[in-house]
Amino acid sequence: MNVDDIETVAVLGAGNMGHGIAEVAALAGYDVRLRDINEELVEKGYDQLEWSVGKLEEKGQLTEEEAEAALDRVTTLVDVEETVSNTDVIIEVVPEKMDIKQDVYQEVEQYAPEEALFATNTSSLSITDLAEVTERPGQFCGMHFFNPPVRMQLVEVISGAHTDDETIETIEALAEAFGKTPVRVRKDSPGFIVNRILVPLMNEAAWLVEDDVATMAEVDSTTKFDMGLPMGSFELADQVGIDVGYHVLDYMHDVLGEAYAPCPLLESKVEAEELGKKTGKGFYDYEDGDGAEIP
Ligand code: 3HC
Repeated sequence: MNVDDIETVAVLGAGNMGHGIAEVAALAGYDVRLRDINEELVEKGYDQLEWSVGKLEEKGQLTEEEAEAALDRVTTLVDVEETVSNTDVIIEVVPEKMDIKQDVYQEVEQYAPEEALFATNTSSLSITDLAEVTERPGQFCGMHFFNPPVRMQLVEVISGAHTDDETIETIEALAEAFGKTPVRVRKDSPGFIVNRILVPLMNEAAWLVEDDVATMAEVDSTTKFDMGLPMGSFELADQVGIDVGYHVLDYMHDVLGEAYAPCPLLESKVEAEELGKKTGKGFYDYEDGDGAEIP
């Protein structure tokens, strides 16, 4: 399939990343079908998408007409058949568990048009293993966005062992049509490029606090002001979801070895369900404002 043939994009999963990816596709002019497992979740995702589009309008980055047109292009759905039939590209953004993702592909496979491309927003899992349960491993690749998708420029495009070159080229062109900059990941390896660098950084930051070497604020001020990153390591973990970083690390630990063992501080946050901005509390508290106070 050529990028010019793409008109309709299905986004499976309306969570933090799903609604952001749906927003990016709708802003780029595509008809978007945003799907989650029940009305409540998909409407919550749509509300967040609407909030984000409203922010862009408030800041003068979109006119009222452009904002309305983008929102009109998004349909919210629960039924899988309705979501994926007559769809050109299906972007999967469901929880980061191999079996959940593979169950979704098996269901989607029954209704998706034969020529439709499958892309997964997995943060680290093997593209080859994910594609295994589908009947179209050649039409399957990784398309990894960053949080928040509407603000982050990069998209990793990852080839599995059996991905066709044509699929990679079309998904790269789609990322460009979304206004993003694709980077090709040539080998299917845990964490790809960005998370292979970023998640160990978050883990080392956690070890510094765990080992009483520095406070959270001291670590964050160092990463933010001295290393020049836009957010401190703990702020960033709160932004992406501590659970997301933890699961990436856990997978890297399994596949790549002991150097990637998650710090207990991350584990304790996941167990306490203090996952960051999305739960109102993570390393910082978001109930009464923005949270992080960096010296
Ligand atoms: N949509 C619209 N507006 C948004 C928004 C969104 N999704 N998220 C935040 N905003 C708004 C805020 O509400 C705030 O609005 P206000 O001014 O009215 O209060 C405003 O944006 C803040 O924007 P600014 O440009 O003033 O702030 P920054 O310059 O700090 O930019 C940022 C924000 C782009 C998020 C920047 O801090 C940044 O780049 N952070 C790093 C993010 C990052 O590295 N992400 C990748 C993480 S790794 C990942 O996602 C992979 C995964 O697999 C783990």
